[in-house]
Amino acid sequence: MRKKTVRDIDVGGKRVLLRADFNVPLEPGTGHVLDDTRIRATLPTIEYLREQGAKVIASSHLGRPRGRDDSLSLRSVAQRLSEILGAPVETAGCCVGPEVQEMAYSLEPGGLMLLENLRFHPEEEKNDPEYAKALASLAEVFVNDAFGAAHRAHASTAGVAAYLPAVAGLLMEKEIDYLGRALKPERPYAAVIGGAKISTKMAVLESLLERADKLLLGGGMANTFLKAEGFGVGESLVEDDYLEQARRAMERAQEKKLTLLLPSDVIVADRFAEDASAKRVSVKDVPEGWRIMDIGETTVDVFARALEGCRTVVWNGPMGVIEFGPFAHGSHRLAGVIANLKGATTIVGGGATAAVVEQLGIASKFSHVSTGGGASLEFLEGRELPGVAALADADNGYPIP
Ligand code: 3PG
Repeated sequence: MRKKTVRDIDVGGKRVLLRADFNVPLEPGTGHVLDDTRIRATLPTIEYLREQGAKVIASSHLGRPRGRDDSLSLRSVAQRLSEILGAPVETAGCCVGPEVQEMAYSLEPGGLMLLENLRFHPEEEKNDPEYAKALASLAEVFVNDAFGAAHRAHASTAGVAAYLPAVAGLLMEKEIDYLGRALKPERPYAAVIGGAKISTKMAVLESLLERADKLLLGGGMANTFLKAEGFGVGESLVEDDYLEQARRAMERAQEKKLTLLLPSDVIVADRFAEDASAKRVSVKDVPEGWRIMDIGETTVDVFARALEGCRTVVWNGPMGVIEFGPFAHGSHRLAGVIANLKGATTIVGGGATAAVVEQLGIASKFSHVSTGGGASLEFLEGRELPGVAALADADNGYPIP
């Protein structure tokens, strides 16, 4: 169902509580923002609101603090945001209370302030109604642009919508639009799934087995499939508890006549280290004591051929240990292949996969690079995200001012 967006309402002169996902990596010690992609992704909404004369009260969580923790203060984000906007961003020392309220009420049209880390209050993650009400009391309208946190039923993502008219921001709208295309895909539809652990991907794999035409698997999680197929995988990361599910998934792929591709050659290393000895071998020949660290050239070529002609391609999860330069090659080559597909809607799931294409400087060659990690996975599973569900439906008579 389409959700109301900030464009569907009049925000001129109104105090708007903007929930963003400014959960960005910080440099330990200095607190400098290391990657501002998520901050930049929210700019269209911030700029739109300010142009409309709204008074913007921006908010976000940062990390997973237990109570107040100054190393996770949103002041670092305010600093980066003000550099980007070329104007100071006022920061509140807290999220709720009379001082914050006074700051919010004295904003001018087009003004912008940033609340402190929403998770400094344990009530946030408990979706406490009193905390949600206190946040809501700052504003007249709630705009949720935090797609990355939309899978969390927290006070600022879901609870607050009970007390304010709630609409999607422009980033939220774009995320739902593009990721939604993977739920009703133009076919052929291929999903490329990697990442270290199968346990975090099993639910999305099970959903993709029912929706996709091709499933291409790499990264550490493919090792469990290789072992389930009977290959020796040496010291590779394997989740033995998932062998049976991997077997069932392969059976289901056969029943559905879905193309399921596993790596055919891999880069193996004699230890888990950047400077380990490494070589390329067939998956039939992984030596005892060695471990799989990346997919090989032949696998990338096979994957590239499988992706040719696909109309929808989703990629989530690196193909190898990208933290170590020598084992990032498979992911980098595959990124180039997907970026250059003709006539396809290409969607990159967030987290580490988004970081790969950002680092390569090719993010703009994809139809969409999601800012959501866990959120994009749950969305692709077909689950309703609490932060999305809480927004007003576009076609009902929800009372928007
Ligand atoms: C993310 O980085 O995936 C989101 O900001 C959600 O963060 P969380 O996993 O700490 O809830």
